[in-house]
Amino acid sequence: MKITIFGTGYVGLVTGACLAEVGHNVLCVDVDQSKVERLMQGIIPIYEPGLEAIVRENYASGRLAFTTDAAEGVQFGDIQFIAVGTPPDEDGSADLQYVRAVARSIGTHMTADKIVVNKSTVPVGTGDQVRAEIQAQLAARDQTLTFDVVSNPEFLKEGAAVNDFMKPDRIIVGTTDTHSERLMRELYAPFNRNHDRIIVMDLRSAELTKYAANAMLATKISFMNELANLAERLGADIEQVRIGIGSDPRIGYHFIYPGCGYGGSCFPKDVQALHRTAREVGYDAVLLDAVEAVNNRQKSRLIDLIQRHYGGQAALAGKTFALWGLAFKPNTDDMRAAPSRVVMEALWAAGARVQAYDPEAMEETQRIYGQREDLMLCGTRDSALKGADALIVCTEWKSFRAPDFAVMAESLREKTIFDGRNVYDPQRLAEQGWQYYGIGRGLSINRS
Ligand SMILES: NC(=O)c1ccc[n+]([C@@H]2O[C@H](COP(=O)([O-])OP(=O)(O)OC[C@H]3O[C@@H](n4cnc5c(N)ncnc54)[C@H](O)[C@@H]3O)[C@@H](O)[C@H]2O)c1
Repeated sequence: MKITIFGTGYVGLVTGACLAEVGHNVLCVDVDQSKVERLMQGIIPIYEPGLEAIVRENYASGRLAFTTDAAEGVQFGDIQFIAVGTPPDEDGSADLQYVRAVARSIGTHMTADKIVVNKSTVPVGTGDQVRAEIQAQLAARDQTLTFDVVSNPEFLKEGAAVNDFMKPDRIIVGTTDTHSERLMRELYAPFNRNHDRIIVMDLRSAELTKYAANAMLATKISFMNELANLAERLGADIEQVRIGIGSDPRIGYHFIYPGCGYGGSCFPKDVQALHRTAREVGYDAVLLDAVEAVNNRQKSRLIDLIQRHYGGQAALAGKTFALWGLAFKPNTDDMRAAPSRVVMEALWAAGARVQAYDPEAMEETQRIYGQREDLMLCGTRDSALKGADALIVCTEWKSFRAPDFAVMAESLREKTIFDGRNVYDPQRLAEQGWQYYGIGRGLSINRS
């Protein structure tokens, strides 16, 4: 099938590469010229395991192509995917300007019937707006072409995006049009061989399903963080509690890790946007409000612990902190809404320095913060420790899980760890003379 994809970010590029990988012909369109040029040279703008190889192979085979020319893109595909960003507006609602721009391009340039598939995460009702936008452009050109707008939200996880796309848990198709449904089934057939993963529903329910999934996951995290803060005050260890409740199959072990808050490009903006949508229809979604408030508070949790340890904010001036993990989660270089940013910015505001290391997100950190005296990006995990007063862990990369604590003690000025992901065993570290601060670990030694 001939497919056009607007947007070559995490979702668009992965979708394009994976659809090409199974044999479809894909043209990816992006407004970012330098990104498109780099993609044509085989340079992948994001870190995503497995992506580079399939982009290069399919580009070389001619099944995957890139362009900045929207008209060419509209001409090419019988199916037109919209996979552009929907960042938060100032009031928290989803900014739909990029989605609308693509809809306008499609309406302006289409000369044959099309199916328009929205993969961006968009508020309920956006499909109708996209339809109206395309219709208005067609009417302005006196054209009576047929098109359908389908919602096909994406559930891939950054860091496992290719695998998630190739082996999806479900493929949500929001349409009531039988022709569109048939084509979507044909498109996704190669990903659907093992058992039927396609769930067809009406467009609005499909749009809401995406928000419901992300809001549910964010709720689980905030719930555990709320409980972690309580455990700390009650002298309980949230990690024991986590194992205790996860054993109940109705609860399960997934997504109940306490930590220094969720980040990334999806949960924060999607919880906010859903809350905003609720308000627009006259409903006060108090739970969503609380999920967001708990998360915002949790992102400062490490700073609270650090200040408590040193005796207030003023005492941080002149100190140097080693920071492991900058990306919002492991296996990505995405720094959007990353908890590490809240920590670093608070340390800088207090006059402290940061020596940071991340396996993938250093370039992105440099791009965001530029050169600054109080930020040193270190080439290795261990070199970030040299001469620092303490270690802060913000992201649970695998390579941080089993460091040599004896070697670390020689590099650090003090044997102190602030662990925002509960990676280490408080008991073991206490026995080795470390001052250890985790999240919700009320039984930790040194917490008196
Ligand atoms: N990142 C994820 O893990 C993830 C997962 C599921 C869903 N989503 C949703 O998918 C959507 C895209 O997210 P992303 O992370 O891929 O975004 P992104 O910011 O990485 O990429 C968006 C791309 O769209 C391009 N773009 C903007 N306007 C354009 C236009 N008019 N024509 C062509 N290209 C245009 C941008 O230049 C950019 O390259 C969002 O709605 C997001 O919420 C993201």
